[in-house]
Amino acid sequence: MNLKPATFQQIDEVITHYPVKRSAVLPLLHLIQEDAGFISNEAIEWVAQKLELQPINVYEVVTFYPMFRQQPIGRHHIKVCRTLSCALTGGYKVCEQFQKEFDCATGEVSADGEVTIEFVECLASCGTGPVVMIDDDLHEKVDCDQAKKLSDQIKSAVQARPKS
Ligand code: FES
Repeated sequence: MNLKPATFQQIDEVITHYPVKRSAVLPLLHLIQEDAGFISNEAIEWVAQKLELQPINVYEVVTFYPMFRQQPIGRHHIKVCRTLSCALTGGYKVCEQFQKEFDCATGEVSADGEVTIEFVECLASCGTGPVVMIDDDLHEKVDCDQAKKLSDQIKSAVQARPKS
């Protein structure tokens, strides 16, 4: 399975925290999704083997929890908080702005494969909403103008990237 070496290390470390290997299924899936962006069938089989479970046991966990994705996401992941404080300060409008900028509905991948926009729950910065997380960066007090600027930055980075 294709993950960063650091993720494999974390996985091995996390397993040692549990007296019974199989109990580590949730943290392992979180680590894999954080690295790969989603949980593939290959990942399900890999986790099952690692924890001495049947693939169906892992598959059931993946499908039970809505936070696990089974499809790849775009190269950039835009997460817009929709919990109360951010919703009241304009989070939904900000999300619409991102959707317009990239012509992409929430939860989907933009046609060029660059962006996925999603609503998420509280990002723990409720006093400075609307809050948006783009990849690893938290942006606070994001209004529609700011959403446009952030979108422009992503678009410029895409254009500046050498073509493969
Ligand atoms: S409500 Fe948006 S960060 Fe907490």
